[in-house]
Amino acid sequence: MKRICVIGLGYIGLPTASVLATSGFDVLGVDIDPEVVATVNEGGIHIEEPGLATVVRAAIQSGKLHAATTPAPCDVYILAVPTPLTPDKKADMSYVQATAEVIVPCLKPGSLVILESTSPPGTCRELLVPILERSGLKVGADIYLAHCPERVLPGRILRELISNDRVVGGFDSASAEKARDLYATFVEGDILLTDLTTAELVKVLENTYRDVNIALANETALLCEELGVSFKEAATLANRHPRVNVHTAGPGVGGHCISVDPWFLVDRFPEQTDLIRLARNRNDQMPEHVVATTLHLLEGIAQPKVAALGLAFKGNIDDMRESPALAIIRLLMEAGVGVLAHDPFVKEAPVPQAELEECLAAADCLLLLTDHDTYHELEASVAAGLMRHTTLYDTRNMLDHQAWRDAGFSVSVLGVG
Ligand SMILES: NC(=O)c1ccc[n+]([C@@H]2O[C@H](COP(=O)([O-])OP(=O)(O)OC[C@H]3O[C@@H](n4cnc5c(N)ncnc54)[C@H](O)[C@@H]3O)[C@@H](O)[C@H]2O)c1
Repeated sequence: MKRICVIGLGYIGLPTASVLATSGFDVLGVDIDPEVVATVNEGGIHIEEPGLATVVRAAIQSGKLHAATTPAPCDVYILAVPTPLTPDKKADMSYVQATAEVIVPCLKPGSLVILESTSPPGTCRELLVPILERSGLKVGADIYLAHCPERVLPGRILRELISNDRVVGGFDSASAEKARDLYATFVEGDILLTDLTTAELVKVLENTYRDVNIALANETALLCEELGVSFKEAATLANRHPRVNVHTAGPGVGGHCISVDPWFLVDRFPEQTDLIRLARNRNDQMPEHVVATTLHLLEGIAQPKVAALGLAFKGNIDDMRESPALAIIRLLMEAGVGVLAHDPFVKEAPVPQAELEECLAAADCLLLLTDHDTYHELEASVAAGLMRHTTLYDTRNMLDHQAWRDAGFSVSVLGVG
């Protein structure tokens, strides 16, 4: 297992390729996007992730990592391409399919193929095996196949890539063991072996667990608004129970995982997934609740203007995929509200964006949408000096509300009645 081909150089593939290269393997990183390939070959990065620039530069400088737009014969193929949703909430497996097809001519006896992309249970056996066997080689007899889902947290990818426990599902035990031997070269966590379908289910189950629990938190937060109490306080107290873990409420669920993966189960088992579908819909409705509250706060103001702080789906990262902030901003704009957004991590957004001061200037409401740490440093008195109306709506319940009230703000908080 000397030469490894990592296909898809995004949030998962690029860190994985770089860590493998700095662990001593010869790594060919493949991406369909020529700009990504050019950037990586120059030792640069096209995504924001702490520590990634250093590792990629080191990997390229060592000569162990090289990027290209097409694969070449290698010993191992790691597929880390997107598995998004189609508009009708079905798993779009076209990227995985295309990637599997493109490696077929490169396969030889002894090749190991590892799918890292999050996939609906059954994908490896039903989609990948028939494609890979077009090579004339038999999975289980001539070549090995494993699924090793990735469970890193954006913002801590490099650390978690090494420290997290990994689940490795094999077509057979030889496949699982071969994949385990590869991950064991850089993973410090436990590597747990199982079969392909269980490994696929484990990843989707993890995110569905999170989604259902966030939906419970969000639903309870709305009840707290009616009850005139604080969800955060109630959740903190409930979590003093030794077997309770109430999740955090917020403006919705974003990202490529939690808001997407539960649909993989609903898509496959539409009749048996009422709870999962309900939770998903509850979380998807949160942006509408935030918009309704914001419009209420703006009532009576002619040509209202909102300063929307935060575009990423969660704090301290630049990832806007499925971000509730974007949905909220679009809905506000459709309702005739002027919105300028600010995010210290996002360079280019599909909504009007400005520097913080410009964003706050003459705004009627500061709408806090993402829990970036830097927003803890917002000065209420500075914001008050810039804004037309001193209204704060904190959808993350993260600011020191008394300080903002002391600076003259009327403060609304999601989940606080
Ligand atoms: N981002 C995360 O935090 C995270 C965490 C756990 C699991 N995952 C899963 O990992 C997988 C990859 O996610 P990501 O966040 O790295 O995606 P990404 O969008 O950041 O990167 C995917 C890359 O694949 C490339 N690509 C697309 N089609 C290709 C093809 N046919 N050939 C070569 N390259 C191709 C794209 O150009 C892109 O650079 C997904 O299944 C995702 O659900 C992601």
